Amino acid sequence: LRAGCEDPRVQDGSLIARFARARRDPDVAVLEGLHALKHALRFGATILEVIAREPARLDRLAAELAPDVQAQVRALARPVDEQTFAQLAPLPPSTGVISLATRPRAQLREVLAAAGAAPLIVLEDPRDLGNVGACVRVAAAADAAGVLTVGGHDPWHPDALRGSAGLHFALPVLRLEDLQPLAETERALLAIDPAGEPLVPQLLPPRAVLAFGGERYGLSEQLTARASACLSIPMRDGVSSLNLATSVAAVLFGVRLSRAG
Ligand SMILES: C[S@@+](CC[C@H](N)C(=O)[O-])C[C@H]1O[C@@H](n2cnc3c(N)ncnc32)[C@H](O)[C@@H]1O
Repeated sequence: LRAGCEDPRVQDGSLIARFARARRDPDVAVLEGLHALKHALRFGATILEVIAREPARLDRLAAELAPDVQAQVRALARPVDEQTFAQLAPLPPSTGVISLATRPRAQLREVLAAAGAAPLIVLEDPRDLGNVGACVRVAAAADAAGVLTVGGHDPWHPDALRGSAGLHFALPVLRLEDLQPLAETERALLAIDPAGEPLVPQLLPPRAVLAFGGERYGLSEQLTARASACLSIPMRDGVSSLNLATSVAAVLFGVRLSRAG
């Protein structure tokens, strides 16, 4: 830099601290990468800040991958030096952009009461946040009514947001304290389990709550006992189970394709 010229790039230790705090803040969503920012913008997120390693490169990428939000990305992006950028996330996104947004506050009562035939997904005690994100992504793509999780993990954790490519903003995603609300809804609760009766997508009732188990232990006995049916995705002999997100995709798109037909 020539003497007297100010470096416009953000070189701010407080930025690193702010992004570290945001990862634990229940009101803030950390969006790693351009796809996450693109989806957040498309689905109406309130963006708090956007930090870019190389704004000119980001602009070119946005022109190619997200032309509909390119102008918004350009207007929001603030440049930062490479060293600072590398400290904004444990695995800095290769697209060179990381953002913060306000988490929307979905109300469980409204999610359960939402009109329409779309099924609602419940994930019981999922352990892998990438899997949770993949479930949110496929649920958004299939236009499900929402994704509810039961268990200790935060479904809005940055790793889950990375897995969903920011599609948490496309539908309600929230964590339940326990299974009780599922007993209080008029929606049919269906357990999706490899040991169930073979699932026939055409026969699934509208507005069903489709419950999937965690990666290791599957569905709990308490949940299965509350379900009105236990249904399986037929598999070839010798295969024990599908991956959680794959099974959510198979059921949701089985239903969607059967209704489209
Ligand atoms: C990796 S599996 C869990 C495997 C676990 N050991 C079990 O036996 O349930 C995670 C979840 O995906 C769903 N799943 C996987 N394969 C399935 C299948 N063939 N039919 C129905 N659900 C399946 C179930 O909801 C299951 O709880």
